[in-house]
Amino acid sequence: MELTEIYDKGEKVLREREIGVLLDGVETEFVVANNRRVLDRYTFRQQCIDGVKPSTNCNVLGLKLSTPVIMSAMTMPIPAIVEEGLMEVAEGLKAAGSLMWTGTPIPEDLREIAATGVPLAANVKPFKDRKKMFHSLHEIQESGVQWVGIEIDSGQGTKVHDRQMAFDCSPLSLSELKEIRKAISLPLIFKGVLSRSDAVKSIDAGADGIVVSNHGAHTLDYLPHPFQVMDEIMEVAKGKIIVIVDGGFRRGSDVVKGLAFGASLVGLGRPILFGLAANGRDGVKDVIEEITAELNRIMSMVGASDPGSVTPDVLIGE
Ligand SMILES: Cc1cc2nc3c(=O)[nH]c(=O)nc-3n(C[C@H](O)[C@H](O)[C@H](O)COP(=O)(O)O)c2cc1C
Repeated sequence: MELTEIYDKGEKVLREREIGVLLDGVETEFVVANNRRVLDRYTFRQQCIDGVKPSTNCNVLGLKLSTPVIMSAMTMPIPAIVEEGLMEVAEGLKAAGSLMWTGTPIPEDLREIAATGVPLAANVKPFKDRKKMFHSLHEIQESGVQWVGIEIDSGQGTKVHDRQMAFDCSPLSLSELKEIRKAISLPLIFKGVLSRSDAVKSIDAGADGIVVSNHGAHTLDYLPHPFQVMDEIMEVAKGKIIVIVDGGFRRGSDVVKGLAFGASLVGLGRPILFGLAANGRDGVKDVIEEITAELNRIMSMVGASDPGSVTPDVLIGE
């Protein structure tokens, strides 16, 4: 299926059900609208004479992927969309050479998901009950995932419209993040960094990578789009830790912009749900493959031979 058809069909299917509300954002919905507005501020500097034949292959923290386009952390509402939804997502992403990332709740069948062979990361929320948080971190680490993620941005839980979704959370301190680092031997990613100071503290705590993210509009209202803070973050993160970005990315053109801002990988949240709702595992595979094909097409026309060589000068800002 083509991308537009998948998005239209997938969103329609989800909106017809109660879970469709999860596509919306917190409180005033500023963040959802601002994500698109900021992505649309940039156009491309076409540099196509003596053009390159690009490859989208990448190697990030030892993981070889066919594309820098990955899934952002999500579990709920995947099992409610289709039965065995998480397995279908795993199979679709594996076929596309991408990475799967689970969120809350931590899937009970994480080991089975890992056994599909899909490159896999799994997140933990900063549960108020820190014993539960450390227990979850250990469980994930033992389940066959490649990376462990901790949501530094869920200290006040999550919210959609006026409804609090996750509330058993509290903000993590730097010393707790250092403790988490000691407990985890796998690559450790902090998700939800949106400032230079949190990037500095993430590096200090020993993170291997950060996700620059406003949690897809599910935490605080009036958070910026990652691009509004990317430069201050890249200033301290470049060459020290890997940077992943998400929030409103929908097409290959958006992904090129993420790479140009310095991200190694770009995450998709809602598009994965649309793919699954529209056409199961094939829908998920098609979302990644279609966006990757768009990315490849643009890379060849802006003179970028691989994801790491998409430089800031390919962008023309407003
Ligand atoms: C339904 C839904 C559930 C989500 N669950 C989680 C989660 O459990 N943990 C997490 O870190 N982020 C979660 N997110 C946020 C995503 O990981 C990601 O940051 C965001 O969706 C990216 O924006 P996009 O949906 O516009 O692509 C969720 C997002 C959605 C839409």
